[in-house]
Amino acid sequence: MRALVLGSGGREHALARGLALAPSVDEVLCAPGNPGMAALAECVPVAADDPVAVADLADARAVDLVVVGPEQPLVNGVVDAVAARGRLAFGPVAAGARLEGSKAWMKEVLVAAGVPTAAHGTFGPDDEAAALAFLDALPGLYVVKTDGLAAGKGVVVTESIADARAAVRGYLSGAAFGDAGRTLVIEEGLTGPEVSLLVVCNGDPAGACALAPAQDFKRVGDGDTGPNTGGMGAYSPVPVAGPDLVDAVMADCVVPTLHELARRGIAYRGVLYAGLMLTPTGPKMLEYNVRFGDPECEVVVPRLRTDLGALCRAAAAGEALPPVEFTDDACVTVVLASEGYPASPRTGDPITGLAEAAAVEGAIVFHAGTRRVGDDVVTAGGRVLAVSALGPTVADARARAYAASDRITWPGRLRRTDIAAGV
Ligand code: AMP
Ligand code: GLY
Repeated sequence: MRALVLGSGGREHALARGLALAPSVDEVLCAPGNPGMAALAECVPVAADDPVAVADLADARAVDLVVVGPEQPLVNGVVDAVAARGRLAFGPVAAGARLEGSKAWMKEVLVAAGVPTAAHGTFGPDDEAAALAFLDALPGLYVVKTDGLAAGKGVVVTESIADARAAVRGYLSGAAFGDAGRTLVIEEGLTGPEVSLLVVCNGDPAGACALAPAQDFKRVGDGDTGPNTGGMGAYSPVPVAGPDLVDAVMADCVVPTLHELARRGIAYRGVLYAGLMLTPTGPKMLEYNVRFGDPECEVVVPRLRTDLGALCRAAAAGEALPPVEFTDDACVTVVLASEGYPASPRTGDPITGLAEAAAVEGAIVFHAGTRRVGDDVVTAGGRVLAVSALGPTVADARARAYAASDRITWPGRLRRTDIAAGV
């Protein structure tokens, strides 16, 4: 089959590689792709978040399966547009992508489904006084989120009531994130380790299948300091998330959510990403995303033994999923970011050492924000590369990922040094 991967980040590079290695896939196309993806697939300059342009491309190239990386094309209805042409697309329809597109709606669904989650209130532009009063009543760790998509930057977690109040005012006025913040969700702060569980869904709540859990490192600095980012590294498997925990989360959280969506007329297909916090009183759902995590995808997909093309095709077609199997090897990824990330990343610097890094045993270098300029590959985004490595244990995989990333440099290259440390 011919597969088309939408997007241009590290997650999409990992998906394109996984599909290129899959026996069921004869050819991989990418739109728009990146220089790393161009090494294993044809990249076509079509905007991933334009549903009509993507559906036209799928028709023109007789694509059998579109695999959607990022959330924006899903929220824009790319799966609906491709399906309307009688082709398969792996991902939820726009009505399902609303789980990520509106945090207020997601919380409403969670509550209706009886899923354990942080206590919350939802407030609109005229509710500032009520929002501030709700904050005052919280016990001390304050969480303020934009309702709409904000490129991973719309969440403030703070112990400072002054900062929380400032966030509420900035969001509701539209000053901080425009319309995305004019409705906001305030939550009680939870504590505990976080786990990302990616669940492949085929439209039947009983047919959903969890992939191996991963853990992501969200803050920019070592020791979980500094601002939230898209993720600075990840590893899988996760010792604190064994099979019993996965079973419990599927039974108590994911399957009830899929039933609630079905009740609302949404047969959810694609990946449902459960962002969990393992609190002292049990796992609680922080958020759902409607796509693979990035950089979780860069550690989960390399461990997958199952044919990725067959898995995504079955889910997209609403068929029973093939058995999902993983290698016993662990995988760790270390994100290399540019100076100034996440606020104002510097770009345009030539990257050296890519081939040397890929030569490290078990290493796979995924391009996240790069561009080709002549013979050079240059930095073109905040997160530039995700350097993954497989190894017999998390510690071995970690040592290899760092050894590989040591070989790559450019001016101002930034990374955490404690990804998967001590696991
Ligand atoms: P979200 O986009 O909702 O996943 O939030 C991004 C990050 O903010 C999460 O991965 C957590 O690290 C943190 N976060 C979100 N909600 C809460 C909460 N209720 N309590 C503590 N931390 C949170
Ligand atoms: N790594 C977090 C996310 O993909 O949303």
